[in-house]
Amino acid sequence: MDKFYITTPIYYPSGKYHIGTAYTEVLADSLKRYHALKGDDCFLLTGTDEHGQKIQTKAEEAGLAPQAYVDIQAEIAKKLWKEMKIEYDKYIRTTDDYHVKAVQVIFEKMLKKGDIYKGEYEGWYCEPCESYFTEFQLADGKCPDCGREVRKMKEEAYFFNMKKYADKLLQYYEEHPEFIKPDYRKQEMINNFIKPGLEDLCVTRTSFDWGIPVLSDPKHVIYVWLDALTNYLTALGYTTNEDELFKKLWSADVQLVGKDIARFHLIYWPIFLMSLELPLPKTIFVHNWITMKDGKMSKSKGNVIYPEQLMEKYGLDAMKYYLIREMPTNSDGMFTPEGFVERYNSDLCNDLGNLLNRTIAMTNKYFEGNVPEYMGLVNDADVDLENKSKEAIEKFENEMKEFEFANALQSIWSLIARTNKYIDETSPWALAKEVENETSEDKKIREKKLKSVIYHLIANLKEIAILIRFLMKDTSDNILNQLGIKSDNISFEDLENYTELENIKVIEKGEPLFMRLETEMEIEYIKNLMVK
Ligand code: MSP
Repeated sequence: MDKFYITTPIYYPSGKYHIGTAYTEVLADSLKRYHALKGDDCFLLTGTDEHGQKIQTKAEEAGLAPQAYVDIQAEIAKKLWKEMKIEYDKYIRTTDDYHVKAVQVIFEKMLKKGDIYKGEYEGWYCEPCESYFTEFQLADGKCPDCGREVRKMKEEAYFFNMKKYADKLLQYYEEHPEFIKPDYRKQEMINNFIKPGLEDLCVTRTSFDWGIPVLSDPKHVIYVWLDALTNYLTALGYTTNEDELFKKLWSADVQLVGKDIARFHLIYWPIFLMSLELPLPKTIFVHNWITMKDGKMSKSKGNVIYPEQLMEKYGLDAMKYYLIREMPTNSDGMFTPEGFVERYNSDLCNDLGNLLNRTIAMTNKYFEGNVPEYMGLVNDADVDLENKSKEAIEKFENEMKEFEFANALQSIWSLIARTNKYIDETSPWALAKEVENETSEDKKIREKKLKSVIYHLIANLKEIAILIRFLMKDTSDNILNQLGIKSDNISFEDLENYTELENIKVIEKGEPLFMRLETEMEIEYIKNLMVK
């Protein structure tokens, strides 16, 4: 059993999360479930990033002390993840005592090593991003990350010597092609940040106090990104006596981050780890954003959709399916009400739902619900069907390895389409009629053919249920339950037992997996959610 340590970014505790923000969490949870189904010993970390000026300002606006404010917000986040059935193993809050202490130790280590030095900082500061920029880095005089106003600020501060590590980082990129995925993000980092020359990073602030004080100079608080990034270590007990998890799990197998925080994770984070002389994560996967027709989701634009709204009306699995299916690797994914209803009706209701319905109905009609035994390759179409299902599984696995989640789903849906086509090719209703009418040898052949069709349909549906399970656990359970297959201990190993289905009796009356949506009405419904 291999260990598999996955992290998500720790979220800003700032109100309700929209479907875009929830995306990273869906991705992480699916990846964990996928590896668990493959038999890995998985650990998923998430949490909240609770320090910094932005949070202090928000708390003031809400008339609360910062700690009281983040306590409420962290509960809001946890409640959503619970509703979305996100199976994290640890929830870290950067205000947790053990984290605060560990970050102080980490800072002193870096100081002692000479990687952090004291100086004076003057630069352009973006408050929402909590980042300083040089004149050169600004985009039309605004923040290059979020596009908002920046202001000139000067303060005594500690700096991290990034320059010292620039070449080492480039070399690491070069020698570890698995480190950054997708690959084009690496080139972006090199061209936009490393080649123009890495600036030393200002890692303390004195302009506010909602942060972790430097142990040896407490009027400084530690820069929120140094505090936040190290959560991936401190959550495991790094620098404490209780560091069994750290010893077992570090380094991370995959760290998932959205594109907006790629720079922090692909440049500062590995450099911090090098400074601490710790191994780097195996892979950092950068995903794109879910956007709306009119661009970024934002409350002020009135184009925000919350996961609760979609889950309540259409179910968790349909929402997750849409989010993952609509996200390409090389560009942003777009949420549209039309697209959502279309995917629901066409992919879930028609393709998957009908396949199950027809199969259950035919098994009941022709064999009183009892699934016949495997007959071998009897019908002409059996050969191609079995080949295609092997190919689809192989493609699925390859796509998952590359974190191409949308393509992985596509390969499952190509198997669903192939299986639906198989019903038309073999016309089981015609075979059944012939079985009824004939008396000769032919009858036996027809019967065998019909048995083979039903067997193949059930076996393929079982495969499909296993394949979608990493994302749609409830739907997978529902399918297996209707097929009469126990789902408790199901795993990817069961994909290998294609010809070994035995003593299965399907449910007497099948239940629709997804109810067909009335297109115009539902599109209107979703549009109305957005304006509220
Ligand atoms: N606190 C930092 C992360 C620190 S990690 C050491 C942060 N938090 S966040 O709450 O703003 O973002 C959390 C995650 O949500 C990030 O991965 C971010 O990219 C993701 N998303 C926010 N909006 C998104 C979309 N519209 N679409 C997809 N993901 C998006 O950043």
